[in-house]
Amino acid sequence: MAELTVRCFTLMLLIIIAVWNTSLFESCDARRGGHWRHRAVSASLSSKKTKSHSGHSSHNNHHSGSKSKPKPKAKSPPKEAPVEPPVDDAPPQKGDSKTYNVLDFGAKGDGNTDDTKAFQDTWAAVCKVAASTMVVPSKYVFLVGPISFAGPNCQHNIVFQLDGTIIAPTNPKAWGKGLLQWLEFTKLIGITIRGNGVIDGSGSVWWQSTPLDDPDNEEKLIIPINKTLVHLPVPQISPEDGVKMPSIKPTALRFYGSFNVTVTGITIQNSPQCHLKFDNCMGVSVYLITVNSPGDSPNTDGIHLQNSRQVLIHSANLACGDDCISIQTGCSNVYVHNVNCGPGHGISIGSLGRDNTKACVSNITVRDVIMHNTMNGVRIKTWQGGSGSVKGVLFSNIQVSEVQLPIVIDQFYCDKRTCKNQTTAVALSGITYERIRGTYTVKPVHFACSDNLPCVDVTLTSIQLKPVQERYHMYDPFCWQAFGQLYTPTLPPIDCLQLGKPSSNRIQSDHDVC
Ligand SMILES: *[C@@H]1O[C@H](CO)[C@@H](O)[C@H](O)[C@H]1NC(C)=O
Ligand SMILES: *[C@@H]1O[C@H](CO)[C@@H](O)[C@H](O)[C@H]1NC(C)=O
Ligand SMILES: *[C@@H]1O[C@H](CO)[C@@H](O)[C@H](O)[C@H]1NC(C)=O
Ligand SMILES: *[C@@H]1O[C@H](CO)[C@@H](O)[C@H](O)[C@H]1NC(C)=O
Repeated sequence: MAELTVRCFTLMLLIIIAVWNTSLFESCDARRGGHWRHRAVSASLSSKKTKSHSGHSSHNNHHSGSKSKPKPKAKSPPKEAPVEPPVDDAPPQKGDSKTYNVLDFGAKGDGNTDDTKAFQDTWAAVCKVAASTMVVPSKYVFLVGPISFAGPNCQHNIVFQLDGTIIAPTNPKAWGKGLLQWLEFTKLIGITIRGNGVIDGSGSVWWQSTPLDDPDNEEKLIIPINKTLVHLPVPQISPEDGVKMPSIKPTALRFYGSFNVTVTGITIQNSPQCHLKFDNCMGVSVYLITVNSPGDSPNTDGIHLQNSRQVLIHSANLACGDDCISIQTGCSNVYVHNVNCGPGHGISIGSLGRDNTKACVSNITVRDVIMHNTMNGVRIKTWQGGSGSVKGVLFSNIQVSEVQLPIVIDQFYCDKRTCKNQTTAVALSGITYERIRGTYTVKPVHFACSDNLPCVDVTLTSIQLKPVQERYHMYDPFCWQAFGQLYTPTLPPIDCLQLGKPSSNRIQSDHDVC
């Protein structure tokens, strides 16, 4: 009897702790202003659509898509940071490693003073000491211009502890003729950015200044029922002095040529262009991060990978105006799981093979993803005339809700009006789709493969996609030169997939093979 009471008591205690933890986690998320973070998949799938997706409300209020969770995120960081649980908060020091606080190097953190020099000086000190930490403290807003935190002569395993906010200048003069990135980390071995701070690219001054660089090919498939429905332009916001921003738009945070890169805890928002980019990196780990930009902000990819291997991305909330994750040429061994995507254009491999280039991508896994109100779900896009291959791709357990085109292979990718028909192509093989479920608003499956190099080993298991008439013309599944297997019946039936192998698959010449 007494034993039973003790057990009951223990159980209650556990429940209390669990509930307490949950609420802590929520408050943390809300503070960081993530966009859409319902973990309750079934609820979001079954709920009737309530959104207006107007997509052109005022620039800092783009949360129309989310259901009932209003998000009280102010544009400027809170002056009084609410009590929040540390996210990844091993104390900055361990052993004999040193910390260097930007405030001690003259940074003001008032949101107006240019703190670029102070950041450069802090980096110069941090760079000399292995496993040291550069601290960007909370409750401050640092205005920092384009900056490169560069090796290769730095010590290894540096930590960039970001708890405050870093904002980008909106004065065109800060950008010269235009730069490809704002905050750059290059040629480092062991570099970690962590904390619960914010990187804010002040993107709104850039978004309207230039037309879309690369309008998405798939938009051709999305035809409004009501022709009078036109896409309104993004509202005009003038940069300082009324001068135009350069036409080249920077990526907010870019890593180049580095080994063992970790990014965790932080929020990256309102980037002029791509939010987080990895190029030529080996060993990348990104988790517990938030990307947040309006669904109609042009070319604002969430995470962009290029020529990078051994990449792990998980537990991320990605809301942006282009691909939530984009995997480009030279990537292999990429594992993405537990990601929320939306708004955005989905998760894409490509585009690959532009201007007759060779592209090699292999061993990519994307699983346990929730997509809401995105243009595409999971997509592979290649240009005609390319070479190389995409091999070994698994898309598993992707929950889609009101996604226009959940499953896309497009080997005729073209951002111009017309592209020439060409015989060579990036070869696609071993593309597995399993448990892709939810609702679509335009077309459930679109497989457009090359005439000369058909897609092979495309397999589908447990596909359940239901139509939701929204405001577009709707289509049946489409396949062209797509070969593979259906391991289970699919909803809707995908009769257009050709079972087995193509009878005459042209073989790529040796120099086209990866
Ligand atoms: C098309 O959209 C316009 C503007 O929203 C509306 O006035 C009109 O009634 C719509 N037409 C149809 C057929 O739905
Ligand atoms: C990267 O990290 C792994 C695991 O911690 C380690 O074995 C490897 O040596 C590191 N690579 C470099 C170049 O430091
Ligand atoms: C594929 O990538 C995963 C990491 O995502 C890695 O663990 C695995 O070993 C890779 N497989 C092959 C055959 O290289
Ligand atoms: C390219 O090929 C497609 C399909 O065979 C055909 O419909 C289209 O007209 C061709 N385009 C050009 C520009 O030749």
